Amino acid sequence: MKVAVIGAMNEEIERMLTEMEVEETIDYASVRFYKGKMLGRDIVLCKSGVGKVNAALTTQVLIDRFGITHILFTGVAGALDERLDVGDLVISTSAMQHDLDASPLGFKRGEIPMFEGDSDFRASEALLTYAEKAAEGLVDRTVITGRVLSGDQFIADAEQVAELRKTFNGACVEMEGASVAQVATMNKIPFVIIRSISDKANGAASMSFTEFTDIASEQSHILVKSILQQL
Ligand code: ADE
Repeated sequence: MKVAVIGAMNEEIERMLTEMEVEETIDYASVRFYKGKMLGRDIVLCKSGVGKVNAALTTQVLIDRFGITHILFTGVAGALDERLDVGDLVISTSAMQHDLDASPLGFKRGEIPMFEGDSDFRASEALLTYAEKAAEGLVDRTVITGRVLSGDQFIADAEQVAELRKTFNGACVEMEGASVAQVATMNKIPFVIIRSISDKANGAASMSFTEFTDIASEQSHILVKSILQQL
């Protein structure tokens, strides 16, 4: 077993980096990969960079070059589900690209044209169960399971939030999860995405994101650590 832990930004991986035992650092395709141990497990930690292309590239490298067997994505997101507040958590049941739109050709929004299989990529049931178990240990946090929506856009508009909720029934919105999910699925690698809420994707999102990304990242980190422990 070799577990990939991916975050998009420094804030999302730095706690893991401080706590893990780094054995080797490898730079490849402009991404830095930290190979080592965490809680006795073999892990590869990396910062993919922001957006779906960065995340997809990083995921394929993790599979091809590092032979990883499981993927945990850790990071922050904007809330779509009304139950969520800053610091709360979403465990992905699935992930989908909300900005993929070939509807003029008759495809549903989010549907990948001419793609074999579902465009709503299902997370691993086993990892989902571990994540839910891990969440039992968190106090004063709302933790929900649901669909993670990804797109190459920072959402900061309440109307767009309502629209994304209505169209896709999304729990939260971010910029990487669905591309990791797609690459993982196409390579038959189990994954789960853990996102803590940094903002509500509304008019106040930019300020909230700047203020809370670091603090919120800790919640996701705690959950990912607990999943690792159960593997
Ligand atoms: N990541 C954190 N907050 C986000 C938002 N509002 N939109 C997209 N990605 C995010």
